[in-house]
Amino acid sequence: MKQQLESIRSQAMAALEEASTPAALEELRVKLLGKKGELTAVLKQMGKLTAEERPVMGQLANSVRAAIEEKLEERKAEIHASVLEAKLASEAVDVTIPGTAVAVGHQHPMNQVLQQIKDVFVGLGYQVVEGPEVELADYNFTRLNIEEGHPSRDRSDTFYFTDDDSVLLRTQTSPMQIRYMETHKPPLCMLAPGRVFRKDEADATHSPMFHQIEGLVVDEHITMGDLKGALITMMRKLYGEDAQMRFRPHHFPFTEPSCEMDMQCHKCHGTGEVNGQVCSTCHGEGWIELLGAGMVHPKVLECCGIDPNKYTGFAFGMGLERMAMGRLKINDLRLIFDNDIRFLNQF
Ligand code: DAH
Repeated sequence: MKQQLESIRSQAMAALEEASTPAALEELRVKLLGKKGELTAVLKQMGKLTAEERPVMGQLANSVRAAIEEKLEERKAEIHASVLEAKLASEAVDVTIPGTAVAVGHQHPMNQVLQQIKDVFVGLGYQVVEGPEVELADYNFTRLNIEEGHPSRDRSDTFYFTDDDSVLLRTQTSPMQIRYMETHKPPLCMLAPGRVFRKDEADATHSPMFHQIEGLVVDEHITMGDLKGALITMMRKLYGEDAQMRFRPHHFPFTEPSCEMDMQCHKCHGTGEVNGQVCSTCHGEGWIELLGAGMVHPKVLECCGIDPNKYTGFAFGMGLERMAMGRLKINDLRLIFDNDIRFLNQF
């Protein structure tokens, strides 16, 4: 029996040393120490022993069991550690492998130019505001002194929502003049950029949706000189100190007197010709129309509760796309709305 026990011990030690998975260990535990295990089988024969032999063999059997149990624990810990190590090794991240480059975008060229224009006017003390694109005809036309029957109110020019033509997509940012004067008292200085909509076919210089930037200043003693000063300041900041522009008399129902401002064509530098051909950007004019402006009509001030005998003001409305085409030397307006990444990446 002694031999049996010793051989169980030595075989168990060898087998445990070789076991390399938790499952193999468990199998060995059952085989050696379980109810039907080898050790139990030997102990069942204890009855056959003499009274002297029994305690000696009992002690030996206990020490074999203890040795096996100790070895089991030891191997369990070792296997656990090596499994963990293998897992960590397989999940290791090589931080030195070069990563996949992330393409970083940038502001749309239209936003870049808008930001530059806003910067100039914020520097001059203007408050930047936004207003609704779905507008009342009352604000878009009537209160701007644009009477019934005026061609710009025509259904062929304007997108209307209602049969009575009272709600529309704003055709200009000028209704923001009325909205601002309704809620602010002079002195006031406002800049209102936003989208406007007209029933125009798209071509090199037209789009059914484009952007305008409205400006409005109302205070005592405001003159046309202040208007020119503000616009010339903007043009020089955007196009450089030698920017060439001209003011022409014009007519708008909501300003009196009214004018338009042109910028010298960036393509032909005012000559109207490129390589002996008529300049395609300005159609041979030498100048590009940028904005409408003027002194706010007394009727417009009055309808907003501002006394035209005390206050005067100027207003202007410019096309953002026109400004950007000159600034970024873009020859076709449609490119701005196509969102072709090859075009946008140039700016
Ligand atoms: N709203 C006009 C247009 O879309 C442009 C304009 C002209 C705006 C004169 C003004 C202004 O503020 O004073 O054609």
